[in-house]
Amino acid sequence: MSDRKLHLALGVRDLDASIADYSQRLGCEPVLVIAGAYALWRTKTLNVSVRVTDEAPGLRHLGWEDAAAEANSAETDVNGIVWEHFSAAGQAEEIRALWPQCDYSGPDGKHRRIKSFVLRQGHLSKGQEKALHDFGPRYCLPYQPALLDLDATFGRSAPRVLEIGFGMGQATAEIAAGRPDSDFIGVEVHTPGVGSLLKLAGESGIGNLRIIQHDAVEVLQHMLAENSLAGVHIYFPDPWHKKRHHKRRLIQSPFVQLLVSRLQPGGYLHLATDWEDYAVQMLDVLSANAELVNSADGYAPRPDYRPLTKFENRGIKLGHGVWDLVFRKRQA
Ligand SMILES: C[S@@+](CC[C@H](N)C(=O)[O-])C[C@H]1O[C@@H](n2cnc3c(N)ncnc32)[C@H](O)[C@@H]1O
Repeated sequence: MSDRKLHLALGVRDLDASIADYSQRLGCEPVLVIAGAYALWRTKTLNVSVRVTDEAPGLRHLGWEDAAAEANSAETDVNGIVWEHFSAAGQAEEIRALWPQCDYSGPDGKHRRIKSFVLRQGHLSKGQEKALHDFGPRYCLPYQPALLDLDATFGRSAPRVLEIGFGMGQATAEIAAGRPDSDFIGVEVHTPGVGSLLKLAGESGIGNLRIIQHDAVEVLQHMLAENSLAGVHIYFPDPWHKKRHHKRRLIQSPFVQLLVSRLQPGGYLHLATDWEDYAVQMLDVLSANAELVNSADGYAPRPDYRPLTKFENRGIKLGHGVWDLVFRKRQA
């Protein structure tokens, strides 16, 4: 019983006024504020949230924050009032799902987002090392938790396409060279991959490409403005094929919502995978997003700009499938 806090969820019209008022009533500052949307306080006995609503202000629901809760759940009491039941970790997960731009990791910072990659040292070839040295300064942008000025970065105004997890970058270099009227931002965490793409881009003098070596989730959250991208490419993301690792898969609803927020109306999201059950998950998650429209009836034909990779060619010869998905963000 001592590990429980009573949860009060209120709907409010004026977030700033509510924060001032409830901070005074509760005797503490909120542990989390999402500008224009939400605030959360935790005291010894209470877990209180306010969420901006167009409806009449008042109680949204009650509940318990309970360290022993294994999953988020809700039930309705005899008076029709909803009681939620969640742990601090479960609440952090729900907050990140609702506001993917926020990185809330729970009251003690322990309930971090599960990453879609594991950083391995990896072997860096001499060529990649040289490319990092020779071409890094020209192509690589440092990660920074501040919006990137894309026009200044590329020295022009053009459609911008983000590629997440470019691997060794062969497709990225080929696509950037084949579409000179667009600018490409490649994001990858793996150093040999960055070296490999730098070698390809530097040696052929590709001008419409920049590289950020960092977790794409944080790049999206902090460096790319809403409605700023003409397209997003994610090719063969790690399938994390063991069921217990599925939570690491990149293509899940909160992440797709973050992607959609960065796409311009009419912008496209192009995914490809050679894992059938991941393809099914992708189709489910994208189809469930109300702001996206499928360009095809189910899976899409491979667009001409996406080159066949060596490994894909081999797979196709062996009769393995590859599934492309191309969805567009609805016009406002
Ligand atoms: C299976 S590989 C595919 C590489 C490439 N797209 C291809 O088709 O060959 C997935 C890549 O995504 C990268 N990756 C995974 N999660 C990422 C993230 N959150 N941010 C940046 N890169 C990520 C991994 O490092 C890995 O290189």
